[in-house]
Amino acid sequence: MISLDLRWTTELTNYDYEDLAALFDSEYEEGWGKWSPKTGYGYARGELHALARSRGQLLGYAATARRFIGVGRKEVLIAGTGGVITRKDSRGTGVGRQVLAALQEANREFAPADFGFLGCREAVVPFYEACGYARLHKLTKDVSPQDAMTVIRSNGPTMICAGTKPISSWPDGTIDLRGLPW
Ligand SMILES: CC(C)(COP(=O)(O)OP(=O)(O)OC[C@H]1O[C@@H](n2cnc3c(N)ncnc32)[C@H](O)[C@@H]1OP(=O)(O)O)[C@@H](O)C(=O)NCCC(=O)NCCS
Repeated sequence: MISLDLRWTTELTNYDYEDLAALFDSEYEEGWGKWSPKTGYGYARGELHALARSRGQLLGYAATARRFIGVGRKEVLIAGTGGVITRKDSRGTGVGRQVLAALQEANREFAPADFGFLGCREAVVPFYEACGYARLHKLTKDVSPQDAMTVIRSNGPTMICAGTKPISSWPDGTIDLRGLPW
């Protein structure tokens, strides 16, 4: 039985941070070093956090934070999504999907945004598609997590999902995240 907690950053406990550090380190410590609660890996920080637990054990996590970004000549409010991860021994059992579904629902209700948004590796595009995201083939501008300064232009993969607006209403044009990716 999985329980899903949604918490604002100010509601996270030391116990949550310890669990998160263990979960991130189990995946990324070798390549990225130890995860830090304050800086993570240099990406934009989450404001709303989804934690999936079973018998107290953290099985999965993701977070969103809202920001106004530029798309062509329009301004769009997105819920940038990051830190998506599930425990290695729980993968393929629907935990990732449940974590994202909880955030998607929140982004249509008490933490509203026009769209959900994320950048990812090519290898996980099918996972996000299975979770309701669609790929955008547009140039994306953001700031490098390595120095929080250098502007990077890339072709993604960039994925969006419906928030308070349907995917079909995403405007045309270059995407300017106006800051760090999530
Ligand atoms: C990517 C990740 C979060 C997926 O989590 P998960 O709990 O295994 O995902 P789920 O079991 O909820 O899978 C949901 C659906 O996506 C599919 N899926 C999951 N991982 C997939 C992958 N790597 N490639 C293709 N499809 C995948 C599942 O088969 C399932 O499809 P279904 O519609 O047929 O049921 C997990 O593998 C992970 O933590 N990886 C390491 C960290 C990472 O890469 N995070 C993404 C950063 S952008």
